[in-house]
Amino acid sequence: MSDAPTLYPVRPDFAAHARIDHARYEHLYAESVRDPDAFWGKVGQRLDWMRAPTTIRDVSFKQQDFRIRWYADGELNASVNCLDRHLATRGDKTALLFEPDDPSQPARRVTYRELHARVCRLANALRHLGIGKGDVVTIYLPMIPEAAVAMLACARIGAIHSVVFGGFSPNSIADRVGDCKSKLIITADEGLRGGKKIPLKANVDAALKLPGTNTVETVLVVRHTGAAVDMQMPRDRWYDAVVDGQSDSCEPERMNAEDPLFILYTSGSTGKPKGVLHTTGGYLVYVSYTHEAVFDLRDDDIYWCTADVGWVTGHSYIVYGPLANGATALVFEGVPNWPDSSRFWQVIDKHQVTIFYTAPTAIRALMREGDAPVKSTSRKSLRLLGTVGEPINPEAWRWYHDVVGDGRCPIVDTWWQTETGGILISPLPGAIDAKPGSATKPFFGIQPALVDANGQILEGEAEGNLVLLDSWPGQMRSVYGDHQRFIDTYFKTYPGMYFSGDGCRRDADGYYWITGRVDDVINVSGHRIGTAEVESALVAHPKVAEAAVVGYPHDIKGQGIYAYVTLIAGEQDNDELRKELVAWVRKEIGPVATPDHLQWAPGLPKTRSGKIMRRILRKIAENAPDQLGDTSTLADPSVVDALVRNRRQP
Ligand code: WTA
Repeated sequence: MSDAPTLYPVRPDFAAHARIDHARYEHLYAESVRDPDAFWGKVGQRLDWMRAPTTIRDVSFKQQDFRIRWYADGELNASVNCLDRHLATRGDKTALLFEPDDPSQPARRVTYRELHARVCRLANALRHLGIGKGDVVTIYLPMIPEAAVAMLACARIGAIHSVVFGGFSPNSIADRVGDCKSKLIITADEGLRGGKKIPLKANVDAALKLPGTNTVETVLVVRHTGAAVDMQMPRDRWYDAVVDGQSDSCEPERMNAEDPLFILYTSGSTGKPKGVLHTTGGYLVYVSYTHEAVFDLRDDDIYWCTADVGWVTGHSYIVYGPLANGATALVFEGVPNWPDSSRFWQVIDKHQVTIFYTAPTAIRALMREGDAPVKSTSRKSLRLLGTVGEPINPEAWRWYHDVVGDGRCPIVDTWWQTETGGILISPLPGAIDAKPGSATKPFFGIQPALVDANGQILEGEAEGNLVLLDSWPGQMRSVYGDHQRFIDTYFKTYPGMYFSGDGCRRDADGYYWITGRVDDVINVSGHRIGTAEVESALVAHPKVAEAAVVGYPHDIKGQGIYAYVTLIAGEQDNDELRKELVAWVRKEIGPVATPDHLQWAPGLPKTRSGKIMRRILRKIAENAPDQLGDTSTLADPSVVDALVRNRRQP
């Protein structure tokens, strides 16, 4: 691989037709940071406002007068922007193209007109059930069109949605429902993934037996697989029964630009997941603009993002961005390797997908299956590829480029976070030469910087912690119910700057290379898991005295979850108990948090003040016992020898 190219220049044939070429990128970027008000004022006009904003940007990252407000006196409705305004020009265009889990089942097209009608019917039904502006609706659905319908119906009536990923357990649902005091849940009888059934309704039932969930008055159940499920009347209602009789039109709520649009829970380094709060105007401006610019969107594109709507990528780049742009978005219920590892490429051929956006973990897993499953398909329709969620190793990048894209398609490696709402660092495919493994350059208005441990800004070629010096319209506005936690988490480490939690290197060309999280968050297959969450799940088991969890390099997942467990005195460790503890974590949090390796730890390395030294545990998990560094400050250095002896052997 040593002679493989490290620079992939913009393709002239692509640049010739691209929305933004290199000169235009430089020009617009300079303008966007010189006069953000003028720049974002102009960009904001891409939306239909019920009342046009007269103020654009009102921001201070300083503790004393902290505020983040964009388009603050504007009024709009997100669902109107995603639906109504397209009806005159694209009513019969496909908005959502649904490809079911089972390839032998028919795909379904939902036009903008039909989507509008379905959203209005559900919005009317929700109002009828007593849901209004500011109420929180939890959505726990599989990847079916109803997920987008549910989100947009909430937006239509000003309800705040909180989507919970289908891979979370009843406990996790209950935590999230309790935190935001949800009044209504929309779920389905079952989900389907890779031929396996996921008992969504049963999970909701179990969640609602847990304390803190009694705010929920109604559960709407979409009939999806047709499985028999328990219906507890009058709480549980069939979705079709309440929606079918409703009118196809529904007066949209006038929302202030800074009214909440949704909450999405995400893991941080401490405590329980935070409810990341996004508001209406700035978020929608930002996701629609980035979606158009980064993916070089054209009206005839068939755009496919393989994320789940349970994550922010699904919110911003399956639902809100694409639909605000009047695009055709594919909604895929299945998985990459079922019925076989050619599925992605078959779906691309079947629906003539032009833009394909997926995660490095999927690319690595499919790369392992060799080129044949790819080569057996045409993929001629593709013109642009994208990745998101974690750093992509150059080898996987090249395979994606050479094999999947036949060397024809640019790749956009997009760096962003739940908190950022949309893409912050990414190549624009007609403007910025790519380097495999680098997210390249900042988007318009984005001012990244690298700081050292003391918060000193590093210039030129450097490696440090990635911060953002100024706001952008899609930035999160608060942690739901705990504004101080928002300020403390993101603006306190480096006062006056937004701290991303990521490490990053900048090369001599000014390209950014994200190196991964520098806090106690593990990125498993692009999913964020807080080590503290897994630890508290483990210690909740009656036989566990103490647990410490770290990430370690994993070939497919990027990072795996490595758990060190100390049992209560007198308990016997054995494989049986190991399996039980792994299953316990799956049950407590959900399958996304399944530990990949569990090591018995008779003792954990602690400082004399009792603090666990994770640095040492990380090195042992990485199988690098020669790099433990200074262990002299440990209360009992001998525990390390035992852990090293019994470490995981790759
Ligand atoms: C990581 C997902 C490198 C990063 C949109 C970030 C990436 C976390 C990239 C956010 C990328 C995301 N290159 N790392 N292109 N994209 N990350 O909130 O560590 O689920 O902080 O948002 O994923 O994960 P989240």
